[in-house]
Amino acid sequence: MEPSVRTLFPDDPCRLAFHLMPPDGWMNDPNGLCYFNGEYHIFFQYSPGCPEGGNKWWGHYAGPDLTHLRYVGTPLSPDRPYDRDGVFSGSAIVSGGRLLLYFTGNVTDPATDRIYTGREGNTCLAVSDDGYHFTKECLMTNADYPAACTCHVRDPKVWKEGGTFRMVQGTRLDGRPGSDRGAILFFRSEDGRKWVNEATLTTEKPFGYMWECPDFFRLDGHPYLACSPQGLPEEAYRWQNESQAGYFALPEDFVPGHTPLLDRPEERFREWDFGFDFYAPQTFEDAAGRRILFGWAGVSYRGYDNAPTIRRGWQHALTVPRVLHRQPDTGILCQQPAAELESLRHNRRTVSDGQAFALPERTGDIVLEALPDSPVTVSLAAEDCPLFTVSIGPCPEGGKMLELTLGKEAGRGRTRRVAKLPAAQNLRLLLDTSLAEIYADDGAVVMTTRFYAPETAEGYTGYLHGAGAEVWDMAAHTVVFAE
Ligand code: FRU
Repeated sequence: MEPSVRTLFPDDPCRLAFHLMPPDGWMNDPNGLCYFNGEYHIFFQYSPGCPEGGNKWWGHYAGPDLTHLRYVGTPLSPDRPYDRDGVFSGSAIVSGGRLLLYFTGNVTDPATDRIYTGREGNTCLAVSDDGYHFTKECLMTNADYPAACTCHVRDPKVWKEGGTFRMVQGTRLDGRPGSDRGAILFFRSEDGRKWVNEATLTTEKPFGYMWECPDFFRLDGHPYLACSPQGLPEEAYRWQNESQAGYFALPEDFVPGHTPLLDRPEERFREWDFGFDFYAPQTFEDAAGRRILFGWAGVSYRGYDNAPTIRRGWQHALTVPRVLHRQPDTGILCQQPAAELESLRHNRRTVSDGQAFALPERTGDIVLEALPDSPVTVSLAAEDCPLFTVSIGPCPEGGKMLELTLGKEAGRGRTRRVAKLPAAQNLRLLLDTSLAEIYADDGAVVMTTRFYAPETAEGYTGYLHGAGAEVWDMAAHTVVFAE
């Protein structure tokens, strides 16, 4: 078997087995997700060699399926005047047999505020015939955006409707003093090069001051707009991170580029993930017609940290690929780990209520089906060190809730998260050495978190209370580095 990132670095206990991570340095947003010429291409925001972040390149994983991906280098680097301070986030589209990547060329002047002056958010295009070698050009500059925008315009997401190219970008509208507002710019183009700004979509009152990483798609014919708003006020059961990532269920008659105001945003907006480490996701449709989401399993927030991986020269990861399903009665988008991840399962055992189970490889897929009405708890420890506890129980306001509590040492500042559950029917935990993804109610509620065991821990032990589970160890998938 080919080596994995994990087996190449056997002395690093935090290396991940089946999540994409940077070879070294810093990773943030997933970019340019697509299926092209028989291969998946997963690009990402990358600061090679800088585990605490730095200038941004695009890193690149590619492979024939989602469990055989190969790190193939940095196809886009900040080497032009229009992207010299970062090849920022963007998206992919396959058109005319070529792969087109749209991204933001970031240029900043450190002597300015970089909000109202001193920042360029250039819209750029990189074209490739083979998916590996790209030619770049700059298509739009700040002068091409509406006058109401501050300098913050970025993260183009492109799709096609009929023969027409369409694009959304995230922006921060100038509401000085003190009420800047997140918004989405809609563009259209006939050839993918000359773009016309059709409309700005925003809310009557600010719903956050900036919207990053927008995404527009239809699922089962229903329109959705995803984005990552900055500046939503924290509430008891939602918006608990410094910045959020979620989606608006749009009115059914929504026409891209024609609706200027989104009403009732606080009711329409639903977070993708209620955990500590999730931001800036992107979706794409693969050859099988699945709508797949990857998120950044990380945040830039400084209240908690990843010192154990920084010490080893890297930081952050992507979530596993999550397939989206729409719940017909609620419009909620459920996320489920792509089925091909099940090929990594081995050593299946059935664990009953009240039993402990060993996870010798420090990975796991733990599935609890048909939950009882009474409380259920899954907890994880490494020797005597509690790592985290996940429980489903009554919510003080009525109904059920999911609760995640990190052990003091393991959390490195991460403490407790809660989210209301629609039904409390099932629970699944994907464990990958130092990263956990928790899926409740078929992925209607998800929580992602990093956790850190003592470096000497040989394996983990799980404990079940209130229900039994099927448990597997998870193999490392063949993420390898090219020569
Ligand atoms: C989101 C983000 C994007 C930007 C990128 C830069 O995490 O701030 O808006 O393009 O990261 O790395």
